[in-house]
Amino acid sequence: EELVFSGVQPTGNLHLGNYLGAISRFVTMQENYSCIYCVVDLHAITVPQDPRLLKDQIREVTAAFIAAGIDPKKNIVFNQSQVPQHAELAWVFNCVARMGWLSRMTQFKEKAGKDRENASVGLFAYPTLMAADILVYRATHVPVGDDQKQHLELSRDIAQKFNNDWAEMIAELGHGAEYFPQPEPLIQGPATRIMSLRDGTKKMSKSDPSDYSRINLTDNADTIAQKVRKAKTDPEPLPGALEGLEGRPEADNLVGIFAALRDMPRQSVLDEFGGAQFSTFKGALVDLAVETLAPIAGEMRRLTADPGHIDAILADGAGRAEAIASKTMNDVRDILGFVRRP
Ligand code: TYM
Repeated sequence: EELVFSGVQPTGNLHLGNYLGAISRFVTMQENYSCIYCVVDLHAITVPQDPRLLKDQIREVTAAFIAAGIDPKKNIVFNQSQVPQHAELAWVFNCVARMGWLSRMTQFKEKAGKDRENASVGLFAYPTLMAADILVYRATHVPVGDDQKQHLELSRDIAQKFNNDWAEMIAELGHGAEYFPQPEPLIQGPATRIMSLRDGTKKMSKSDPSDYSRINLTDNADTIAQKVRKAKTDPEPLPGALEGLEGRPEADNLVGIFAALRDMPRQSVLDEFGGAQFSTFKGALVDLAVETLAPIAGEMRRLTADPGHIDAILADGAGRAEAIASKTMNDVRDILGFVRRP
């Protein structure tokens, strides 16, 4: 059975990269799959969070999901901390994953920086919680941006090692050859890695100190126009063919964003704008970005004005998620050999 799972951290500043690389893809997936979309608040606290802002940030991601077009009745939408089985399975996976595996994670190395002694243990174990998010539902497909690829590979390794280490019990209990599936990353389309508007070699990120580096989902039309106009470019006009974008990361990024917003191949963008100056192209890009994002921002404002309604959606989703997750955890207890409540 095919099941989609993905998550977004409620760490503020949801941006165009999150939308094009992930959330817009979540919307597409709901047509053909059962989907579970999670606001991963337990992941957010691996780095310091202001508790007075976190609730609103959780509601904002939820609102973004719904405003983008995810139907919370057809799918399951909830926040991670309401379903305790995520943390429970993550503990088991902490005992499956190896220190060496986690030490190789580039995101940990980047986020911990030089002062690794001072990074939280949670930041180090981040990927085992992510594996638990996916596997507690035995999800098979995970739509994510390119930056999550290594974490998904680790999830596959954890599933495989669990299946191997407990193969006898898994078979004995009638689960067949493997209990957990190998979740497949879906990293597709023209927008798997949107770059900073200030530096085409850096990923667009929620934590970049410069707000001009990203287009936030809540930016108004004027702000979007200003950010695009100020976006770094080079002096050459746009090329007519993709080869002409080589060595021009900023031009490449803006063409990629345009292609993703229009849902067309990058070459088609060059067919239309090859030879044009950036001032012309940026004008068209502003119109396109505003056309896509303004309705989402408006709907997010409407939804977040009623936190009670959002909290009810999250509670309903958490109840349905827990029904699946608790079944998995009971299986896991039996596989591991724990004594459990009958
Ligand atoms: P997060 O919250 O950093 O980002 C959410 C999603 O947005 C994608 N993304 C991007 N895509 C394209 N260009 C960018 N510049 C860009 N920046 C972010 C991310 O790849 C992601 O898909 N670890 C995850 C959250 C998570 C998760 C999970 C995901 C926790 N558990 C289980 C999938 C399955 C993260 O930090 O995403």
